[in-house]
This record gives sequence, C-alpha cells and structure tokens, in this order.
Amino acid sequence: MRKPFIAGNWKMHKTINEATDFGELFVQKLKDEQVDLSKVDVAIFAPYIHMSALKVIFLLRGIDVGAQNMFYEDKGAFTGEISPSMLSDLGIERVIIGHSERRKYFGETSAACARKIKAAYTHDIRPVLCVGEDLEDREAGSHKDAVRKMLLDSLDGVQAVEAEFAAVAYEPLWAIGTGKTATPEQAEEMAALIRSVLAEKYGSKVADDMIIQYGGSVKSTNIAELMAKEDIDGALVGGASLDAAEFAKIVAFDDSVKKESLKQVSVKNVLKKDN
Ligand code: PGA
Repeated sequence: MRKPFIAGNWKMHKTINEATDFGELFVQKLKDEQVDLSKVDVAIFAPYIHMSALKVIFLLRGIDVGAQNMFYEDKGAFTGEISPSMLSDLGIERVIIGHSERRKYFGETSAACARKIKAAYTHDIRPVLCVGEDLEDREAGSHKDAVRKMLLDSLDGVQAVEAEFAAVAYEPLWAIGTGKTATPEQAEEMAALIRSVLAEKYGSKVADDMIIQYGGSVKSTNIAELMAKEDIDGALVGGASLDAAEFAKIVAFDDSVKKESLKQVSVKNVLKKDN
C-alpha cells in the first residue's frame, strides 16, 4: 500500500514570522480545500531554525515537519552541522538527503548520502533521497544510466530494512526552479526505472512499498496529471510550497482514485515495461 506523500521543500526561504504565518494559513487552506489528511501524507521541509515553531502549529494536525539535510555523525567537532540525534530530540521524523543543491553547492557525494540514510534509520528518521540527471545527461540520452548510478551509489551498503524506510524523489535538475516540468510520461518513465532498480537491489516487495516522488516545478496546475501516473506516489515541491493557498491546492490534487485505493502496483509490471 502506498500512501501519497506531498512535501514542500522551502530551501533557504522565509523569516520566522513568515513561517508561522504560513503555518496558520496552511492549516486553514487545507480545511478550505477539504483535504482528508488520513489519505495523504504531508510534510514541510523547513529551515532548521523554523522547525520547532512549525511543529507547535502543526501538532495533532497530521502535517509533518522535516529537515532539509543532516550530518551522519551523532555529535562531535563538526561546526555548522546538525546531527540525527538532534533532529530526533526535536521530534523530527523526516529529512531530505542528497538534494541536487546540496550535491552541487556543498559537494555532497552519493557515498555521504548512503551514510546519512543509515544514520537516519537508526534514529527513526525517514529520509527522502533525491536523485536526478542534469540537462547534459538528458540531452545526451544518458539520463537513465546517470540516475541508476546515482541511486545505487547513494544506497551503497544500505540494507533493505533501511531503504524501505526511505522515499526516493526523482528530480531532474533541468526542471528544478526553472518552470519547466518534466512531462508526466518522462517523470513516469524515470519513476518506473527507479522502482525497477530498487526491485533488483532489494526485491519486489520492498520496491513495491517504497514511495517515489517527482520534483521539479510542480504546481497546482500539473500535480494531478503527474499523480495519475502509476509509479508516482507524491511530489517534492519547492517554489510552489512557499505559498499556503497554492500548496494546499497541490495537496488536494484531484486524483481521488489514488487517494481512495492507496493502490498497489506490481513491480512485475514495472519490470515487464522496462524490458
Ligand atoms: P521547484 O523545486 O519545485 O522550485 O522546482 C523542487 C525541489 O528542488 O525540490
């Protein structure tokens, strides 16, 4: 059973007042949109310093607050880093790992991602592992190889029980913050590829249960067609998650079929399609 998972990635945006204003308004907008939070998981990946305040607002409201990054060590002389134990101490249960901006601007490697995923697991923090190809790979037709490699390297040494605790976000770099969304077909092709790689590594049972999100210029006007695709179980939303009304509309995406049935897809079908 895969429950849709829609998450906002605020990146380095909002002051504390803007964050708390968003929180109050978002709760209201979800009500206005008549979102049933038992049918969709929702999270905001906020800057660290806003997490506590948002958690208070979202308490008992079924909205998670997550971190955008963490280090893999528990404590020590690592100036500027935040540890998994600090996050779990705050009651944070989700973290983004290996976002393309971390990889690009802060030199985060896939090997570091693998260590972070293992560390997250030991603290009951559910990671969202981001993978995606750049424009060069897409234009050269090597995007599938690039994503396969990034996924396998980021899961190197990660056991099935640790992996199944994670979600994977497919985020093509050329679609992030550009206004240029992958077509639903392109997104589905890559989500299906990711599921088949997960199935090869961990078996179809684990792969079947794992959440795969799409990310890259998701908006209220394109979420439904993306969510209608078989292997896309959710979205990681950047820019459009900064606006409470717009993000509530995204969470309310109109695919009642997926929300109702929390459908199960056989990886056998995915593998068949891939061959
Ligand atoms: P975007 O960002 O929705 O602004 O394209 C997505 C992301 O980076 O997670």
